[in-house]
Amino acid sequence: MVPTPTPDDAHASAGASGRGRLSATRLFVDAFGHEPAGTWSAPGRANLIGEHTDYNDGFVLPFAIEHRTHVALGRRDDGVVRVISTFDEHAVELPFAELDAVFPHRRDEIVEWARYPLGVAWALRQRTGATDVAGVDLAFASDVPVGAGLSSSAAIEGATASALNDTWGLGLDPVTLAQVGRTAENEAVGAPTGIMDQMAAMLGETDSAIFLDCRSLDAQVVDLGFADAGLELVVIDTGVKHAHATGGYGERRASCELGASVLGVPALRDVGIDDLPRARRLLDDVTFRRVRHIVTENQRVLDTVRALRERGPASIGDLLVASHASMRDDFEISIPELDTAVDAALTAGALGARMTGGGFGGAAIALVASGRVDAVRDAAATAFAASGFAPPTIFTVTPSTGAHRDT
Ligand code: GLA
Repeated sequence: MVPTPTPDDAHASAGASGRGRLSATRLFVDAFGHEPAGTWSAPGRANLIGEHTDYNDGFVLPFAIEHRTHVALGRRDDGVVRVISTFDEHAVELPFAELDAVFPHRRDEIVEWARYPLGVAWALRQRTGATDVAGVDLAFASDVPVGAGLSSSAAIEGATASALNDTWGLGLDPVTLAQVGRTAENEAVGAPTGIMDQMAAMLGETDSAIFLDCRSLDAQVVDLGFADAGLELVVIDTGVKHAHATGGYGERRASCELGASVLGVPALRDVGIDDLPRARRLLDDVTFRRVRHIVTENQRVLDTVRALRERGPASIGDLLVASHASMRDDFEISIPELDTAVDAALTAGALGARMTGGGFGGAAIALVASGRVDAVRDAAATAFAASGFAPPTIFTVTPSTGAHRDT
């Protein structure tokens, strides 16, 4: 897990992008003593709906948020990749030619945050077979909240992949760069995640979500139109940190694989609502409920896309609520803080609310009429205090652009 940025950084608004770029550039100059050749950035993401469906070859509907990771890059002439971040005063460096000796088996020798950018360099080497590239210095600054289910990891992967792709003239397209980011996450970091976060970080567009088929990687841009509908997307960060390299995430993945194998399909994507009675007969209760979450969640993603296109964003609230109930009761990845956030938001008038991301901590999102944002904020704060939970951090997010070069 990348160490936590300061609260000021983490909750800054869209204007933070310029500050993030400046802070990466300043760190670069302070640490390396010369000006960078350019800066790149990539966003975190919120997932509107479609949770744990990505590694089941299913459907997801994430959007990029305005919180971003910025990287300043300069070339070196010795083939070394050196990284530093505002999270850690110590630079970490490895010769490009030695990345294969470290990843994946000796990754524990690298400080955790540095496995993300160095892992991307390694994954690019694996993907392209490149052996002779310029060395690089990379300085990172991020305002994506860490451990909040907003994919700070895909932001650092996307920024690194874009910067190295351009600098090394690799000519890889954004989908391939997302796959590179996932390879880094799975093998260099060791988190058995799907492709959703990296695709959102690469492909995000203003005011839009990405409707992704995780089997074909076909990605369609879906207009969200929150502002025109007078809606805001509120994030309620519980402050409970999660990590996907250990624990429940991998167990859920294993249950899904077991369910698919007993049902005789390549992935749970191939199981429909009509197949659930048969699944109930063949599977133990826990595996059945894991499967039911995935099958119904895939359908909810399709229903949400249709509702957005035909009736607009105010019509998706019930689907968000149903998604949360399925994660709470069938997939069992929610926690009391997330349930409290969702219930408080709904009681205060949110149209819909659900936990977002991998679960076991992190944040909930709530779709709220602009005039009710303060009521939702107050209700969540009050409910957390009444339950004896640490105060949540609450902020709005705006669907934003994916990875790109900034300067
Ligand atoms: C994490 C993973 C994603 C996805 C979500 C759950 O964010 O990185 O690949 O599986 O959890 O939807």
